[in-house]
Amino acid sequence: MPDAPLHLIRQEVRGERAYRVPTDSKAFAKLDQNESPLDVPEELKRELVERYVEANWNRYPEDRPHELIAALAERLGHPAEGIIVGHGSNEIVHTIGLAMMGKDVPVVLPHPMFALYESVARMHGARVVSVDPTGPHFGHDADTILEAAITSDAALIVVTTPNNPTGQVIPFEGIERIAAGAPGFVLVDEAYVEFVEGPNAGELIKPYPNVLVTRTFSKAMGLAGLRIGYLLGAPEVIQEIEKARLPFLVDRGCEAVALAMLDRPDLVANCVAMLKSERDRLLAELASRPGVETVPSAANFFLMRTPLAVPDLCERMAEQSVRIRNVCGYRALAPTREARGWARVSIGTPEQNEAFLSALEHALADERAEIVSES
Ligand SMILES: Cc1ncc(COP(=O)(O)O)c(C=O)c1O
Repeated sequence: MPDAPLHLIRQEVRGERAYRVPTDSKAFAKLDQNESPLDVPEELKRELVERYVEANWNRYPEDRPHELIAALAERLGHPAEGIIVGHGSNEIVHTIGLAMMGKDVPVVLPHPMFALYESVARMHGARVVSVDPTGPHFGHDADTILEAAITSDAALIVVTTPNNPTGQVIPFEGIERIAAGAPGFVLVDEAYVEFVEGPNAGELIKPYPNVLVTRTFSKAMGLAGLRIGYLLGAPEVIQEIEKARLPFLVDRGCEAVALAMLDRPDLVANCVAMLKSERDRLLAELASRPGVETVPSAANFFLMRTPLAVPDLCERMAEQSVRIRNVCGYRALAPTREARGWARVSIGTPEQNEAFLSALEHALADERAEIVSES
């Protein structure tokens, strides 16, 4: 049999690693993907499934989910023509890539940041201008980002606030300075916006039509399994980006569930309040554990390092049915000569967080026992 002609696949694509999350949905505490630990209430699920049964499955959905777009427009006070609903915000990142990231086009990406952006940029052959974090919490300075964009004449700057995997925020005034001074577009990823109070980047679109904002139903809204995200922008910009999209990406079922969640802001508010209070409790508790270091976070996850190498830590936690994420692959979070690398922990329900604390205690007790037996 002849070899498959792999050389015909673009080098930029072949050079990438496929996105794989070594996940375990059966773990008691699945704290590795920043999801909501709370599922949609069962009675609401049943009601939605019944409505789904009544829909025509043999017919295409609308090219764009008009009802959902109208509901978002009303709630956000943003024109419907300035909204794209996507198959998760991941899909929107690809659409932005197709629309803006040509060969050698400069794209400013702070590091560390949700890895998909860099991968999409590389696959389009764009020139990634990386901006390193500053300080012990891996935050990013708005003026440094802006300077990198001006120096490189960037077509696109991407900032995430709160940022994944660090949980750090760029203050609104900083985002506004970036928007005002950027030579090109500014995409603000607000996947975790529900966890912060105060103004958000959506308010910048009217005064600064170079601003785009992505959000998702996957985190605080608890719908990661259904894949719904959206992009906000000036209508004239969205009209152009829309041309790069595949039609029919949002199916009828997803649209109906997203609409139902928009009608239940109480569910989201309760979930966010619980997660924020659990996050603060966990961080306070971990502060008293010897050898455990954490980074304060504005989102539903935080960074942590311990005296254990991260792969060992993750493995020992997994043995106790607690999944956390190894984020050492981000160069700023990798092990150094002086210290281990970092892991990321998503906040779960109070019971899952207790399981996390106790699994960590065991994992580190094993480590101490090994040190004693070696000495
Ligand atoms: C910053 C950020 N943006 C986007 C996403 C992807 O979200 P979605 O589920 O909407 O594709 C994630 C998921 O982890 C994220 O952390």
